[in-house]
Amino acid sequence: MKKTIRDYDLEGKKVIIRCDFNVPIKDGQIIDDNRIVMALDTINYAINHGAKVILMSHLGRIKEEEDKIKNSLRLVSIRLSELLNKEVLFIPQTRGKTLEEAINSLQNGDVLLMENTRFEDVPGKKESGNDIELGKYWASLGDIFINDAFGTAHRSHASNVGIATYLPSGLGFLVENEVSNLSILNNPEHPFIVILGGSKVADKIGVIENLVTKADKIIIGGGMAYTFLNAKGYDIGKSILDSENIEFCKNILAKYSDKIILPVDNVVVKEFSNDVSNRTIKVNEFLKDDIGMDIGVETVSLFSSILENAKVVFWNGPLGVYEFSKYSIGTEKVLEKLIKTNAKTILGGGDIVAAASKLGYKDKVTHASTGGGVTLEFMEGKELPGVVSIMNK
Ligand code: 3PG
Repeated sequence: MKKTIRDYDLEGKKVIIRCDFNVPIKDGQIIDDNRIVMALDTINYAINHGAKVILMSHLGRIKEEEDKIKNSLRLVSIRLSELLNKEVLFIPQTRGKTLEEAINSLQNGDVLLMENTRFEDVPGKKESGNDIELGKYWASLGDIFINDAFGTAHRSHASNVGIATYLPSGLGFLVENEVSNLSILNNPEHPFIVILGGSKVADKIGVIENLVTKADKIIIGGGMAYTFLNAKGYDIGKSILDSENIEFCKNILAKYSDKIILPVDNVVVKEFSNDVSNRTIKVNEFLKDDIGMDIGVETVSLFSSILENAKVVFWNGPLGVYEFSKYSIGTEKVLEKLIKTNAKTILGGGDIVAAASKLGYKDKVTHASTGGGVTLEFMEGKELPGVVSIMNK
């Protein structure tokens, strides 16, 4: 059975590679190119094996016509061309004669990137709705389909699942590598410690439920910690509260009180801003108008002490308001501690991987996933349509 790119003879074939080039862009600049860099292995392999390389990706979410302006993949094609040190022919269409002619003119080793697949979402949600005709059409443009878009593997789109139905298909190196590294967490060595941050409990319920029985400790920080503290009976002032999930927190705390580790102190402000003064307070010292922004120094020590003897650590989500420089400190201090341990460390999700990159630690962890939502779904034990559509074919 042919299931990976290695299983195919690519010479002279039109090889469609679905990447996840959904990178953050601000003021017309790509601010983190990690996902493009991580796609290079598969793309270079296809080039070096004489394929005519046709790349596809989505970028952002396209709900109305005007979303298309700021979500063109043109910038990605420029960055990709720099990284490959090779021309990348950008075609600002997702279908039609120009695209078809450009594909038919490709020589072995050439690379073409078509426009954002989600442009097909307006009108009609054809990409996100996995429209059969669209999947068939895209399949008609190539000979072989390779899915290397790990970040999108939890979606069932025409450009990953639909197209795989109609072409000989395989996984790329990035998807293979992600699945194999994340699988360490299925049967981890102990102590296995999970660190969860981010603002909403709702986003992490599945992960907590799945990991609470496997992990020795679940450390909770970020905005979601305030809902847990509230569930424990603390006044949390004006800190973010996920009121719909207080009951969930109460139940999980009642059942696993020894496993769930919460902050013991917090950095608080009176106004949600990086520019106002702050104080560090204990969890029982919140005033009515205090807003929690980060974990305090005692919490950094507490979390660090738990990581001391860990064998495996999975971390998703920052421990404070990471986008504000003053409140990224807790996350960074715990990350510093983590890379000094001997644990196998797996980081999932953009913010925590960006933090590791910023501190120069990205290469010091066992695995920094390119996935956001997909990593969480994988950790919840859910099947990933982008992977199973090929493995179960
Ligand atoms: C991501 O960034 O998580 C993936 O690219 C998927 O994007 P989506 O959440 O818009 O589907």
